[in-house]
Amino acid sequence: MAVPDTVLSNQHLEAIVETNDEWIRARTGIKERRIAGERESTASLGLRAAQRALDVADILPTAIDLIVVATSTPENIFPSTASLIQNWLGASKAGAFDLSAACSGFVYGVDMATQAIRSGSIQVALVIGAETMTRVLDWQDRGTAILFGDGAGAVVLKGSSIEGGVLSSVLRSDGSGGDLLCIPTVGSEDLNNADFSTNGHKMHKMYMNGSEVFKFATRVIAESIEEALVKADLGIEDISLIVPHQANLRIIQAAARALKIEPDLFMSNLDRYGNTSAASIPIALCEAVQANRVKPGENIAFVGFGGGLTWASMVLRWTGSDLTERRSGRLINQQRRQFSYVLARWRVELRRISRVLGGLVNRLIPGRGRSPDEKTDTL
Ligand code: COA
Repeated sequence: MAVPDTVLSNQHLEAIVETNDEWIRARTGIKERRIAGERESTASLGLRAAQRALDVADILPTAIDLIVVATSTPENIFPSTASLIQNWLGASKAGAFDLSAACSGFVYGVDMATQAIRSGSIQVALVIGAETMTRVLDWQDRGTAILFGDGAGAVVLKGSSIEGGVLSSVLRSDGSGGDLLCIPTVGSEDLNNADFSTNGHKMHKMYMNGSEVFKFATRVIAESIEEALVKADLGIEDISLIVPHQANLRIIQAAARALKIEPDLFMSNLDRYGNTSAASIPIALCEAVQANRVKPGENIAFVGFGGGLTWASMVLRWTGSDLTERRSGRLINQQRRQFSYVLARWRVELRRISRVLGGLVNRLIPGRGRSPDEKTDTL
């Protein structure tokens, strides 16, 4: 995982919008969130998380076949954030694309990558959830400004003969609720409106109907986890930890009541990071592993929900080792990865220099670099 250093506390927010720490903590469970600095972006946070995931898995960038970045705040419309990260890693044999399923995106991404591995078409996938949500917030809207934060998390998935990994998944969407949680952007039919807004929603800014999203979330979490458990032929008693999307502590508590389990079975770190959308599950997973709450052989579940509306649940048997065990040794591979990152930076520079040199040569040698039409004209 990777989060920005800058902390935005509830007290800081009191100076921006009419709210207070007590209300935010009581209604959401959030105390603070991280906010990206000027030189940080979705791709740079995603890259840092990806590099750490490669260290933990001890995988070289050239071994990656596929990079999926789940995000609602991509660096560009295109090139994809995944392609930027592919280049910075030096993952020269990887395909790369961004996936848009809002806060469910990470679970969707893990499912897509798992299916690609199981089909035999790839061996190794890097799935990243990365967001700079604070850049799409309307800071006048206290219903959303208090909820979201920035960050990234990543996992490496690898084909293995060890039984386990993803046991089942349930992916769902109900587009009829799309207007409850949205960020209108360049393809919107209302882009050319004089007031630059659509249905009263500001262009490129998040709009949310909080109470409706709250009701939707509490309904689908329990339902979809139960469906994923049935598919995996397991019961809730077989699950040692549920890593949910970190949106609101009250949503998690309601889901625990619906599933008739203790709230402690849910991993929660939203007090420190708020809602980081597609990044929240891998960030929470990383902290759960670091805290020794996930051990090899145990069954765990992910559940995501958000804009679309979309939701997704997944049951897994954890086969990864714990992070501390992996940190030692592997020095040579570590150095090879660092070399790959440096080389990737140089490749970009060399490409730029060769373009400049090519332009110079074309200007110096008459006839070179002209289009076929121009050449015909000269003839
Ligand atoms: N600070 C202080 N007061 C606030 C406030 C804020 N940030 N936001 C709303 N209020 C006020 C409202 O104006 C209202 O006042 P009133 O009773 O005088 O009219 C009161 O608090 C209750 O507002 P309400 O919107 O009913 O609060 P809520 O309990 O539903 O909490 C959310 C609002 C946004 C925290 C809650 O609806 C929520 O978490 N929804 C789900 C959001 C979510 O998870 N989205 C992402 C999914 S991926």
